[in-house]
Amino acid sequence: MKPIQILVVDMGSQYTLVIGRTLRELGFRSAVLSPGKAEGWLKANKPQAVILSGGSASVYEENSPQPPKYILKIDIPILGICYGMQWISHKTGGLVAPHHERKEYGEAVAKFDTKDLLFRGIKSKSIVWASHGDSVEKVPVGFRIIARSVDEKVIEAMSSPSKKIWGVQFHPEVTHTKEGKKILLNFLEKIAKCEKDWQPADIVDDIRNETSKVAGDKKAIIGFSGGVDSTTLSAVLAPVFRKNLLAVCIDTGGLRRNELEEIKFNARAAGVNLKIVKASARFQKSIGRETHSEKKRKRFKKIYGRILEEEAKKFQADFIVQGSLATDLIESGSAGKADLIKSHHNVGLNLKEKELHPFRNLFKYEVRELARSLKLPSSISERQPFPGPGLFIRIIGEPPRKDKLNIARWADGEVTDILKKHGAYKGVSQLIVALDCQRTVGIKGDGRVYAYSVIVRGVKTLDFMTAEGVQFPANIRREISTVVTRHPKIVRVFFDETNKPPATTEME
Ligand code: XMP
Repeated sequence: MKPIQILVVDMGSQYTLVIGRTLRELGFRSAVLSPGKAEGWLKANKPQAVILSGGSASVYEENSPQPPKYILKIDIPILGICYGMQWISHKTGGLVAPHHERKEYGEAVAKFDTKDLLFRGIKSKSIVWASHGDSVEKVPVGFRIIARSVDEKVIEAMSSPSKKIWGVQFHPEVTHTKEGKKILLNFLEKIAKCEKDWQPADIVDDIRNETSKVAGDKKAIIGFSGGVDSTTLSAVLAPVFRKNLLAVCIDTGGLRRNELEEIKFNARAAGVNLKIVKASARFQKSIGRETHSEKKRKRFKKIYGRILEEEAKKFQADFIVQGSLATDLIESGSAGKADLIKSHHNVGLNLKEKELHPFRNLFKYEVRELARSLKLPSSISERQPFPGPGLFIRIIGEPPRKDKLNIARWADGEVTDILKKHGAYKGVSQLIVALDCQRTVGIKGDGRVYAYSVIVRGVKTLDFMTAEGVQFPANIRREISTVVTRHPKIVRVFFDETNKPPATTEME
């Protein structure tokens, strides 16, 4: 698979993911990363174009998003959108008006200089959609104004072809900007010379060819959780390996209610043979009395890797295939120099057999599109992610022993059923139900009890790099707390609506 050509730096705009989606619609893949992550990624990769997204901050705010400053000197075409353009202007000697003198919210008519490559072939006057308080009052030396709004005379775009930098004050990624897609296409094709590379079918072919070259007629096992990544990867690779591929699902004892049945169904849909390895006792022994999040993950990872190796040996496999995504590699510090946020259980296992990570350049929403293009059932393509260490990282403050796992499994099942009943499950990107073992006082029957709490958290996100905490309606929250506190060991239910950042999706 070709390396990703476009880096989109997320400066905190609600439209950043719309940029990624619009680029895919235009036929291009892109990596959408926060400024901190972008730095490590840029050092490890060589994109052909960088887009700095919009954002709600002002360049004058103390903690405003700051992409690496050297981005302005890397000799790669850059397009700054809204805050992105203001940031470029601010850093290169232009003047950004901080006092909201020229607010624009919504539609404006802009007049474009169609001689500039960015606006080549578009109508000279059309509607753009803008939403900003600050704006560029004076462009930096070496830049030209290439668009203005007709009414307000706001500087709508600037460029410096010799510096390879362009900036637009409006949002070309939203459909309300009439010529937005053409503008983005001009930037990518005419300016950055990117080639179209997003076609789900092509990606499937590329992965099949690449794997077939490396693994040929060898044998492989794939770590199979039944999630969208490992199921889709199995479906992609099944025709490459045929009988030489075995999906191995490790039943760690941390799975959810009915999950094994779903896993079996998903393996059948992907067309792979499945082996379920019952290993609950081994995980219990290995994780023991550990309560610390990272240490639990490390112990989990060790035993997980060992079992995979044993299974690879039994199957005489030369390769172990994993469905790790770009996000897993970034978050576990394996891409560039990004800080370690969490050590993912399936990254860097250092196994004896060769590891293959064919999805290493893909993001979750891309895998979902591959799944759709392979006509896998929607229960797979739209399936919520579930972490490899499962319920083990949803027990807080006490060792994740069997009795605690059982309570967490029960609570998760009940909350899931309630959300499904109210049609609220589908709108959530991931549901997290955790057991907080810090005891508090409650009343059950006639007596006081000292027992646990359950934390319910829903997040909405496309790529899990950032996420919005979901606020469930009051009637659903009420039903959840009533049902869940029927368990003799649960006295309270908390709802966690914190965004990521500062929180992460999982609590451990
Ligand atoms: P966080 O909590 O980092 O999670 O915001 C982002 C996504 O990754 C999942 N996650 C994991 N998945 N092994 C996994 O396979 C792990 O150790 C792990 N930790 C977090 C999490 O459920 C969410 O979807």
